[in-house]
Amino acid sequence: MKSERGLWGSKLGFILAASGSAIGLGNVWRFPYITGENGGAAFVLIYLVFVLLLGLPYMMAEFALGRATQLNPVGAIEKVKPGSKWKYVGLLGIITSIGILSFYGVIAGWTFGYIFKSLFDTGTPASNDFSGFISNPQYEIGLYAIFIIVTAVIVYKGVESGIEKWSKILMPLLLVLFIILIVYANLLPNSSQGIEFYLYPDFSKVGFKTIIAALGQAFFSLSLGLGLMITFGSYIPKSTNIFISALYIVLFDAIVALFAGLIIFPALFALGENPASGPSLVFIVLPKLFSQMPAGNFVGAAFFILLSIAALTSTISLLEVPVSYLVDEKNVSRKKIVWYVAFFVFIVGLPSALSQGTVKFFTNFGWLPSSLTSADFLSQMSFFFGDFLLTFGALLLCIFIGWIWGAKNAGAEIMISGDNFSKFKGTWIFLIKYLLPVIVLVILVSIFKVTGIS
Ligand code: TRP
Repeated sequence: MKSERGLWGSKLGFILAASGSAIGLGNVWRFPYITGENGGAAFVLIYLVFVLLLGLPYMMAEFALGRATQLNPVGAIEKVKPGSKWKYVGLLGIITSIGILSFYGVIAGWTFGYIFKSLFDTGTPASNDFSGFISNPQYEIGLYAIFIIVTAVIVYKGVESGIEKWSKILMPLLLVLFIILIVYANLLPNSSQGIEFYLYPDFSKVGFKTIIAALGQAFFSLSLGLGLMITFGSYIPKSTNIFISALYIVLFDAIVALFAGLIIFPALFALGENPASGPSLVFIVLPKLFSQMPAGNFVGAAFFILLSIAALTSTISLLEVPVSYLVDEKNVSRKKIVWYVAFFVFIVGLPSALSQGTVKFFTNFGWLPSSLTSADFLSQMSFFFGDFLLTFGALLLCIFIGWIWGAKNAGAEIMISGDNFSKFKGTWIFLIKYLLPVIVLVILVSIFKVTGIS
């Protein structure tokens, strides 16, 4: 993202930057573990339906508001509806981004640590001592701190575009590595059970939790619901086709997630692991897979390097949300506020870092009912911020765009850059004004009904 309101250098530059935010641990870490916890293929199918039916049209709505107003989320809302309470939706986005960054940074720290673990843990398969790795507070907190500091330094210096240039080269590499791993994992004995789990839906496994998890994951993975794509949209020129760009971003993002599953699930069944292992799933399965491969140390290190970069482009965009809000709206110095926000995020994330076995209280936290998510603090944060508040924010923003600003205005903004949207415009307006708000509202309200929280 850029510090001044310039326009993107190229159309591809914009698509790649937005994809950089979208593609991250959400695809490679969160998608497999949530799929595993929710019984596999039926979840995947519901997730894909939500991505196309709700995620894609909603992403276009965020882009449209951003491009029409050329402002950050709070500024954009103020411009459309000055002096109204809607500006608090922007504030909700700030809170949510801090909550997400806190647990996301913990996992990004693991990813970073596993670069070295893959390289140097030659004796025992790295997988055998995941619990050792993770219950070691120095590592957990140290690695988490390093990742937050690196993110903050980049946002502080405003050198995001440098990282984005790198990620343009490195992300295709990640995809190539994925393809090699898919082939390798699917040649292992018993891997076909994994494919069955992952691709043959068994709808008897679909419960209420599956549906909320799929909805949350769809928005989370596409970086929607915080107004981040409003900010991205504010930099796109009128000639960029919002519809086609969003379609590319959504497809890239879904493909990376689907590929990650094609590695994890076959490997998991071949190696006799449990799909419902929770947040540690990919950190248990993948090192074990690497340890069986020729030159597995290097494959593993390469994999975790590329994944760390993917995570970094996402943490940068998450930290940008509160920082640019405070800079634009509160007139504080960018350089100072970056460190305050980063420090605050770090503190908020400490319980998550200690929740995978280190501290019993955080490991068995369980404030939210087990019908929604696992008991450890990290899973609870991931559900509360990454599923619940995120979709709630998306619901409000969607109502704002569809009804307050007006879906017709938004549709007209999308039309500016291309006729190919005209056949879909009616459907799009219906999705934004009616279908998305109704589906999301029904799901959110039923959380309270079904779980008895009130
Ligand atoms: N989408 C990213 C991922 O899948 C995470 C992320 C980055 C995000 N920015 C966001 C999620 C904004 C929600 C909102 O890894």
